[in-house]
Amino acid sequence: MNLPGPREPGLYRLALVCLGNICRSPMAHATLEAHLVGAGLDDRVHVRSAGTGGWHVGEPMDRRAAATLTAAGYDPSRHRGQQFAASWYDEFDLVLAMDTSNLEDLTDLLRAGSGAGTDTGRLRRFRDFDPVVGAGDDDRDVPDPYYGAESGFDSVLAMVERTSEALTAVLGRTLRETRA
Ligand code: 4NP
Repeated sequence: MNLPGPREPGLYRLALVCLGNICRSPMAHATLEAHLVGAGLDDRVHVRSAGTGGWHVGEPMDRRAAATLTAAGYDPSRHRGQQFAASWYDEFDLVLAMDTSNLEDLTDLLRAGSGAGTDTGRLRRFRDFDPVVGAGDDDRDVPDPYYGAESGFDSVLAMVERTSEALTAVLGRTLRETRA
């Protein structure tokens, strides 16, 4: 799958967005960052995460999300919640939504912000890059674990780990192809 090119050659700016920015997008941020470090791309790909809602701005990650990441060897400690704003579309090369509801909210923001001629190619679902996707459209969602059982966080971790690995490969290819 091809990505939109970086606005600045050699540097890719990526935003990961869920609802609260304390569970899914911070977990995806941690696993993606680790894969980027492993591929030597961490200085070429800048990642931020945000929520469409502002309830948890400035807060650390959800305790269960942080524990799941820690048990798998990732560092959750630096995260602080941020809220997505329409201006991020001018800053980021690609905005990835964690589920379909997030995608709809982000699409509304994009349309409200820029009127006609919106560049929707820069807005996709994170799991569009998941190599393990089933038949239904729902399979493109990272399910919200916030109100569910602890096991939901393990399931999110498995999804974001394998998707981060695949996304890192696509980012590496995109940066090579668009080298200045
Ligand atoms: P997230 O999970 O979108 O994966 O961070 C949620 C966190 C908080 C809330 C909803 C979802 N909330 O309603 O506060």
